[in-house]
Amino acid sequence: MPCRRHFLHAANTLSEKQRRGSPASSSVLLVLMKLLPLYIVFVVESAHAVTDPNDVLALMQIKASIDPATIPATSCLGSWDFSADPCQSRNGERFTCGIECMLASASQNATPTGEYERVISLKFDIAGYAGVLSPWLGNLTELRLLQIPGNALAGEIPITIGKLSLLTALDLSSNSFTGPIPDSIAWLMNLQSLNVAHNKLSGSIPPTMNSLRYLTDLRLQGNLLNGGFPDIRNLGLLGVIDASDNKLSGPFPRQLPPSIYSLSLRNNELGGKLPTNIILKLNQLNILDLSNNTFSGCVNDGILGHPSLQQLNLSMNRLSQLRVHPRHVRQSPMTALDLSYNLLSGPLPSFFALMNQLSSLSLQYNSFHGAIPQLYGAKVTEDMPYMKPFERLILDGNYLTGPLPLPFTEEGSSVHSVAATSLGDNCFQSCPRKFTFCQGKQQKTETLCRLFNASP
Ligand SMILES: *[C@@H]1O[C@H](CO)[C@@H](O)[C@H](O)[C@H]1NC(C)=O
Ligand SMILES: *[C@@H]1O[C@H](CO)[C@@H](O)[C@H](O)[C@H]1NC(C)=O
Ligand SMILES: *[C@@H]1O[C@H](CO)[C@@H](O)[C@H](O)[C@H]1NC(C)=O
Repeated sequence: MPCRRHFLHAANTLSEKQRRGSPASSSVLLVLMKLLPLYIVFVVESAHAVTDPNDVLALMQIKASIDPATIPATSCLGSWDFSADPCQSRNGERFTCGIECMLASASQNATPTGEYERVISLKFDIAGYAGVLSPWLGNLTELRLLQIPGNALAGEIPITIGKLSLLTALDLSSNSFTGPIPDSIAWLMNLQSLNVAHNKLSGSIPPTMNSLRYLTDLRLQGNLLNGGFPDIRNLGLLGVIDASDNKLSGPFPRQLPPSIYSLSLRNNELGGKLPTNIILKLNQLNILDLSNNTFSGCVNDGILGHPSLQQLNLSMNRLSQLRVHPRHVRQSPMTALDLSYNLLSGPLPSFFALMNQLSSLSLQYNSFHGAIPQLYGAKVTEDMPYMKPFERLILDGNYLTGPLPLPFTEEGSSVHSVAATSLGDNCFQSCPRKFTFCQGKQQKTETLCRLFNASP
């Protein structure tokens, strides 16, 4: 490669001059004078490398598959004019944006034919492009980045995407892609981030995904994916899974890597019992959202006393029991817990008020009855050392009765953010409307409350 040789030559000149012992300043000047034209030669030479003809063809096909009526003149694709060489003219007038290139010989995977520029990044702007993604995309085999979010591309994700083995980030989110996630993504061995959220993808999550061992971030939410969650236990770096708003069914995924710290499976059709042992093995887990599924049975201290879990949303399931020893949840790092819209019943448990870090508790629309435990009164004030006060305490839609714990009603007490407490639609026969937490929803009628108490 000529430029490298030139630089080597310049370096030799320098040491030669120093060996001759000429004054430092003049030697530096001499070197500069020699280097300057070389530098210009270097720049001009590298600008002469043209784009690999296969890459040019692929880019042409990619543009040709976009409906021309949806390509604004001022957009990236609008500027692609193939009378010029793409890589040479990139960031100029004719390939304003959309591609990045690299001299092929600079790539570790360079083919020996070598002096072409290869396209290493393809990033569309959000311009409303419609059409399909051309299978010719697969010929851009040096791509590291493929990002086409927020447009209106439809049709299937081409199988040839599997040829992009150097890809580290793939973002096709918020388009209208249909059909399955191709099995061939298994070949994207360097992929770290995969985002196909908010499309119309169907079929199951390909089990072949288990070979993407560098994956850290997996976003599948807002599609029509169905079936069970595949075994992805080999993805040892995976931190985030969002598969919410799909049609996934079956039990809680049993083969997840323990590196997961955020897991959202909200709005699916998953169900069965919550597998405490499996959830406990996810010992990095911070955020777990299983809301709006059909999980049933019991929530126990294994889950509420999980050593790392901070936000747990189990709202809108069919959970019917809490089995918790206060001793096991006191030190829990949980800050926000949502158990609303389930089938929980019995007296309102006081252990919630003993969870040190818990500041947001939602229990609305269950069938809790009885009085609010005095301990809740202590936790709405900021007076307890080492104890985070409740900032949100949502108890509407149960069968709770009075009297309210003292700090709730005490004039001038240090009740913390009473506004975020709500007690509507319960059986408090007198919930004075001067308290914000009594405003909003009416209390239940006496008849309804008496009927509830009479039922077994
Ligand atoms: C480029 O991609 C097209 C479509 O997949 C294919 O027919 C063609 O053979 C590819 N060219 C090369 C050189 O791989
Ligand atoms: C619950 O999930 C279903 C899909 O399983 C969805 O249709 C529905 O809108 C979701 N409900 C809420 C309140 O988000
Ligand atoms: C829990 O999930 C439900 C349903 O998806 C949602 O409406 C609610 O805001 C979530 N709770 C919290 C505390 O984020």
